[in-house]
This record gives sequence, C-alpha cells and structure tokens, in this order.
Amino acid sequence: MASVTSLSDSVQQHLASALTATRPEAAGADPLLRRSDRADYQANGILALAKKAKANPRELAAEVVSHIVTGDLVKDVEVSGPGFLNITIGDRAITENLAARHADGERLGVPLKENPGVTVIDYAQPNVAKEMHVGHLRSAVIGDALRSMIDFTGEKTIGRHHIGDWGTQFGMLIQYLFEHPGELAPAADVDGEQAMSNLNRVYKASRAVFDSDEEFKDRARRRVVALQSGDKETLELWQRFVDESKVYFYSVFEKLDMEIRDEEIVGESAYNEGMPETARLLEEMGVAVRSEGALVVFFDEIRGKDDQPVPLIVQKADGGFGYAASDLTAIRGRVLDLHASTLLYVVDVRQSLHFRMVFETARRAGWLGDDVTAHNMAYGTVLGADGKPFKTRAGETVRLEDLLDEAVQRAAQVVREKARDLTEDEIQERAGQVGIGAVKYADLSTSPSRDYKFDLDQMVSLNGDTSVYLQYAYARIQSILRKAGEVRPAAHPELELHEAERALGLHLDAFGDTVFEAAAEYAPHKLTAYLYQLASLYTSFYDKCPVIKPAPPREVAENRLFLCDLTARTLHQGMALLGIRTPERL
Ligand code: ARG
Repeated sequence: MASVTSLSDSVQQHLASALTATRPEAAGADPLLRRSDRADYQANGILALAKKAKANPRELAAEVVSHIVTGDLVKDVEVSGPGFLNITIGDRAITENLAARHADGERLGVPLKENPGVTVIDYAQPNVAKEMHVGHLRSAVIGDALRSMIDFTGEKTIGRHHIGDWGTQFGMLIQYLFEHPGELAPAADVDGEQAMSNLNRVYKASRAVFDSDEEFKDRARRRVVALQSGDKETLELWQRFVDESKVYFYSVFEKLDMEIRDEEIVGESAYNEGMPETARLLEEMGVAVRSEGALVVFFDEIRGKDDQPVPLIVQKADGGFGYAASDLTAIRGRVLDLHASTLLYVVDVRQSLHFRMVFETARRAGWLGDDVTAHNMAYGTVLGADGKPFKTRAGETVRLEDLLDEAVQRAAQVVREKARDLTEDEIQERAGQVGIGAVKYADLSTSPSRDYKFDLDQMVSLNGDTSVYLQYAYARIQSILRKAGEVRPAAHPELELHEAERALGLHLDAFGDTVFEAAAEYAPHKLTAYLYQLASLYTSFYDKCPVIKPAPPREVAENRLFLCDLTARTLHQGMALLGIRTPERL
C-alpha cells in the first residue's frame, strides 16, 4: 500500500514555504487554499497576513509569488483581485498523481491517520418487543456509513447497539407469557416477520389484560420486582423476548444490507450490575444529590418551563434505575475498558437534552476527561412526502419493513424499464441494491440535523442527486471498459489534458481529503455531494472527450480509459463507504 499526497496538500506545502520565506513570522499561517473556477486553486490567506503585517496585500502577494518555484506541480501562479493567488497545476503532475492512486488498489492512495484513536459508536438501537420505526432506520443508516468512513481513515471503531431491553414494561409481557407459555414460538423456529407478529400479538393481548384486570396488573408489578432482583425463571422468559426480537432486528438489518455483530449488541440491561455503583459514586462525589427521595443532578444552564431547573434522574425515589443510569454506566465502561477517545451517539435530536445532561454529569464525575470527546450526532425527524410527520393514510405509523419493500418494488420498475440484457433474476437482485441504496442515499445526502422527506418517487429518480444516478454512472463506465476490448486503461503523463479531463482529475484527487473531512465532521452528506459532483464531471468529460468513438490516438484512448477506470473505482469505494452497492451492469 502506497499512500499518495494529494495535489492540494502538495500545493499547500509549496505555499507555506513561500510564505515563510517571505515573512518568517508567517510560519504556520494557513494559505487558505481551495478549488476555484478561475484557476485550479485559489489561495486567499494572504489577505489576513497582510492585515496583520500592515502591508499592502497585492504587494505582499507579489512577494510570495517571487518565492514560489514553478515547475511540474505549480505550472503558473498569478496575483488576482485584492491579493489572491491563482494557481494552475501542470498536466503531468495531475496524471502522475492519479496514476499513483490507480496503482494503489482499493485505498486509492488515501493515507491512514497518523495518531488513530478509538471511536465507540452507538447506533442502530431499536427496542425489544417493539417494531422498528423510521427513526431507527436513520440511526442505522447514518451510523453504519459514519462507521465505515471513520474506519477508512484508520481510526479504530467499536460499535455499540444500545437496544432498549429493560424496563418496567417487561413486567406485563413476562407475566402474560408466564400465564400463556405457548404464545411465543421459540426464536429458532421463526423468521423475522413471524417474530415481530408474535411479539405484536403478545403485546396487544397482554396490554388488554393489563388494562382490564386489576389482579393481573398487580401480578405484573410483582413480576417487575422479580425481574429486577434477578429471579431465574423471570429472566428466562425475559430472554425469550430478547431472542425473538433479535430475530426480527437481524431480518431488518439484512434487508438493509447491513452487517451487525452480535457481540456489539449490548443493550441497557448489560449495565444493570454497574448502575448501583454509578449512583453511589455520583452521590459520594457530590455530583448527584437527593431530592424528594430521588438521586438527581442539577444544571444551572438547563431549565424548563417556568425557568425551573430540569434535573437528570439517576435513581428514582422507588430505588429503580432508568435510561440515564444505564447511559452513565455505559460511559464508564466505554472509556475505562474500551479505551475510547471518542464517544459518538447517533441518536434522534429529541434525545439531545438527555445526552447534554449525561455528558456533563460524566465530565463532573471525571469519567469523561479532557482527552475524550463525546458527541451526539442528533439527526432530525423523517417526514412524509407531504412534509408532515410520517404516517399512513389511515394515520398509523408506517412499518419500516413495508417502506423498504416498497422502495425495492419501485426500484424494480425503474430497473426493468431500462434493462436490456438482464434476466428476471438479475432484475430482482438489482432492484434490492437500487431500492435499498436509494433509501440510504436519500437519508445520507440530507444534512443529518435537518428533517428529511421520505419521498420514494424522488429517491428512485434517474435524474438528480440520487444513488440510482450514481449507480448508472458506475455501470455505464463498466460497459465502456468492456467495449474498449483490447485497448486497456493506461496513464500517459506526457499527454496534454483537456479542460474537462483536468477538472475530473483534480476532483478525483480530492477523494481522500473529502472522506477525512466528512468523517471528522460526522457529515456523510459531504461525501454524497462529492460523489454526485464526480458523476457530473465525468459526464461532461465523456461528452467532450471521445474515448472509443470517434477513436482517438491510441495513447489518448488509453489515458481516457484510465480516467474512466479511476472514476469507477472512486465511485465504487465512495458508495461502499455509504453502504451502497454498485452493480457492474444495470
Ligand atoms: N433505544 C433508544 C430509542 O429507541 C435509543 C438508544 C440510544 N442510545 C443510547 N446510548 N441511549 O430511543
């Protein structure tokens, strides 16, 4: 594996040394380099420098230019506007850089992070005995993509699926199952759909008894106590709900083409043993105080209605522990045992106050030190195509699986319309890849903090910023490579490049920098935007620069095929990081 320094990093280094040569005190100043329409790159950093040095920016810029060595990399540099630098890269440097990326295989020359840390990422956390909803979909999709991107930078990631598998609601369910032992088929005998419908049936039936029968209610309450005190028989019944739910979760994750590891499913119940200690430590340190029997933490800045302080409840007055206690206990383990340097939570924005309070509490207790970052990547709500909260026409919440199935069906229509040489089996397989890809892409391409509209028509559209568009771009390139026959992709650095080739080439060079930026900012939409632009730049390259017909000179054809191939590999790798497949034929 040979990593490649990006052109922009090389230019950046060039500029930095020219700046220091001009003004020694400018050492370390950022030249603020970016891609530009006027030239290949523009540097705007001299303005700030001039201001500091009380110098004329244009004159300072001219001085810097005189210290820049032009050659293969920086072919030309000019002062423009109030003191910007316009920089043009040599064609040879572009092609050589891309050739090194092409030779590197899957990593495309992207270097690994120098001091990787450990990110524990909490995502895809549905609740036991409950149907998954579109909110859970977002956590799974965004979390899975972020994780791949972070992994790609060389950082170590550990997943935690903090499933909701504990709480008083289990008293009713377990008591019912205890009284009707045949109601839940063994998990080994059912598929995902049966598992969920069994759970739904048991839930409804137990609810009905619970609401109408006071004695049952009492028995259910006693069952909660038995569960909390670790009664063996009660725990066995509880485990059956967990197992049955997992069959369902896995079937959804499989549909989502997502790999979830069993050892990373560590739900709320896993922290039961540690919770009393968490509470004791917080009380001893004075971080938490007793208030009306409960153990709570107060915050000056966090106030609710009527300016009343909103406390975080660590332990309820009846002695029970809840959601906050499990999260606080989880933090201790993630930092101490997993050695996390970053804790990332991909959780609905409606829980962001909870996380603010939990993080602050953990900081006061010293469990989160200055060397550990904690972040809630709070995503917005999923809305229907009409912009209203997502409901069926009858006003019910939409089942996640129905939604995914419908996406796949729509995709099948799109694929079938365009399919020329695909068999029915192939169409079905592609429909899955296209439909699920469309759902993921629509989610990932919206800035996560924003609400987003779940609009299937838009998602599977062939035009515009959709995964289908990118998948077609990829498949089209593969078909060109097949058609090229014995002319094979090969880089020819001696060739002059067309404007469209240069634009495509410079964009290809930026892949690694984009992934690093998107991973560091937890912003998958920056990667989707990059890929969409890549496909657009490829289209205009292909329009302007014939690859096969009319046949260009052999070297030109090889070099263009090489650009095609590198574009395809970059698309493939980028889509893979988003969890989206790129079929070879569509
Ligand atoms: N199970 C929770 C829910 O469905 C999400 C869990 C988020 N993770 C956490 N560590 N609290 O709302």
